Amino acid sequence: MALERVDVMDLTPEVFQDFVRKNALLTAGGREGYNTMTIGWGQLGSIWNEPACTVYVRPERHTYGFMEESGYFTVSLIPAQRRDIARICGTKSGRDTDKAAECGLHVLYGAGDAPYFEEAEAVLVCKKLYAQDLDASHVTDGGPIDRFYGSAGNWHRMYIGQVVEAYVNK
Ligand SMILES: Cc1cc2nc3c(=O)[nH]c(=O)nc-3n(C[C@H](O)[C@H](O)[C@H](O)COP(=O)(O)O)c2cc1C
Repeated sequence: MALERVDVMDLTPEVFQDFVRKNALLTAGGREGYNTMTIGWGQLGSIWNEPACTVYVRPERHTYGFMEESGYFTVSLIPAQRRDIARICGTKSGRDTDKAAECGLHVLYGAGDAPYFEEAEAVLVCKKLYAQDLDASHVTDGGPIDRFYGSAGNWHRMYIGQVVEAYVNK
C-alpha cells in the first residue's frame, strides 16, 4: 500500500464519510516544523468554484499557531481501527509531546511543503483561502452552542482551504 495522487474531482463520496467517521488529523507547518491534532469537525464541498475543505480550530491549540503561519494545511484520514492515534493526537499537545513519533506516523510533504502522514488512507492538501472566528452574534440556533462554549468564549476559528492535492492509499 502506498499513497498515490488522484484527481481531487475523482474523490468518492466515501471520503466524505471518512472525514467524520474515521480519525482525521489536521496538520500544518512545513519542513522546519509542524504540528498535528485530531479533528472531529469539518466539511467538504465547494466554494468560489473550487473544491474546498473547512476545519475549525480553537485558539488554545498548539496547532492554531501553525495554521495561522502556514499557507497550507492537510487532513490525513487515518484508518478507523487506529483509535489510539486519534486519542493521542486528540488529547496530548505538540507543545510537550512529539505526537507523530509516539504514534509511529511518518511525515510526507505535499503542495506548499504541507506535511501529511504516510499511514493515512486518504489525504487532502489544502491551500488556505479564508479564516474567520466563529462569532456568538451570528448564531441563529443557540441550542447546540452552550455545550461547546462557556462564558469565556474561546470560539473556534474557521479555516476554508482549497483542496489542491488528494492522495489515496492503494
Ligand atoms: C475526536 C476528537 C475530535 C476533536 N476535534 C477538534 C476540532 O475539530 N477542533 C479543535 O480545535 N479541537 C479538536 N479536538 C481537540 C484537539 O485534538 C486536542 O485539544 C489536541 O490535544 C490539540 O493538540 P495541540 O495542542 O498539539 O494542537 C478533538 C479531539 C478529539 C479527541
